[in-house]
Parts: sequence; C-alpha cells; structure tokens
Amino acid sequence: MPASALEIIKQHAGREGGLLPALHELQHTFGHIPTELVGPVAQAFNISRAEVHGVISFYPDFRTEPAGTHVLRICRAEACQSMGAEELAAHAMKILGCGFHSTTPDARFTLEPVYCLGLCAQSPAITLDDQPYARVTPQQLEALLGSAGLQPGGQVAKTEGQP
Ligand code: FES
Repeated sequence: MPASALEIIKQHAGREGGLLPALHELQHTFGHIPTELVGPVAQAFNISRAEVHGVISFYPDFRTEPAGTHVLRICRAEACQSMGAEELAAHAMKILGCGFHSTTPDARFTLEPVYCLGLCAQSPAITLDDQPYARVTPQQLEALLGSAGLQPGGQVAKTEGQP
C-alpha cells in the first residue's frame, strides 16, 4: 500500500464526517479507490469493511477500478430519461461493448451513469472527459466517441505505439 494512502487516511480519520473527504482524496490521488484500502479505511474510522464498501458503492462518483482513458457519463435522472437517455445509454453500450460501471477491454472508454448534470432543460445530457454536451442524439454520441478514437462498428482506432 502506498505510504501516501495511509497519510490521507490518517489525515481524515480523526475528523467528524471525515470518511467522504478521505475517499474523495484517495480517488483523486489514485484515480480510483483500490480495494486493498478498504480495510485500512475501515480500521481508521472504526467501522466495518462492509460499511466502507456500502459508501463506495452508494456514490456513483467512486470507483474501485482504474478508469479508461476516456470517461463517458450519461445522465440517467428523470428529465434526461424522458428525453431519450435510455436509448442513448443502450446505443453507448452497443457501440462500446460494455455496460455501466465498466471499461472497454482495451481500457479506452469507461461508461458511467450520472444523476443530473444541471442541463435538464437541454436533455439528454452527457459528459465526455468532464466536458458537458446537451441534447445529444445517438448519432452525435457516436461522433463524439469517434473523435475520441472509437471507429464505426465499435472498433477502437489504434494510436502510435499500440500493437
Ligand atoms: S436530469 Fe439530466 S441533466 Fe438534469
């Protein structure tokens, strides 16, 4: 376990409501919350490992595996759902070949749900690498993913240095 992980945990452990800030900082530092840190976090906050797992799985922002190069988030809250977000999600899953909370086998794209991006009046909304896009159609989504390296039919373009 990296020493910096222990320092982060220790910094927050003595604080009221320190669990969420600790988890956020771990994710910010490592890009995800490694499962090997669940035990030390539980111990530091004097709670069970199951409780730590519960918090991590409750918040969609936390992940226990490293994300792909590009992170696509599709809003699944009510306004977007009523404007075609489910169709958009189904299309994303089809062309990426992975479901929510998953990463493509080549580690290029991670697909995640999000629950409101503040763009409800322009739904359905998504973010690609934290850049928001509104009123997105399946065709526009495919074009955006194409600009990030996904080729028609879901084939991912090779970059220099890749076999
Ligand atoms: S419901 Fe999707 S942006 Fe608000």
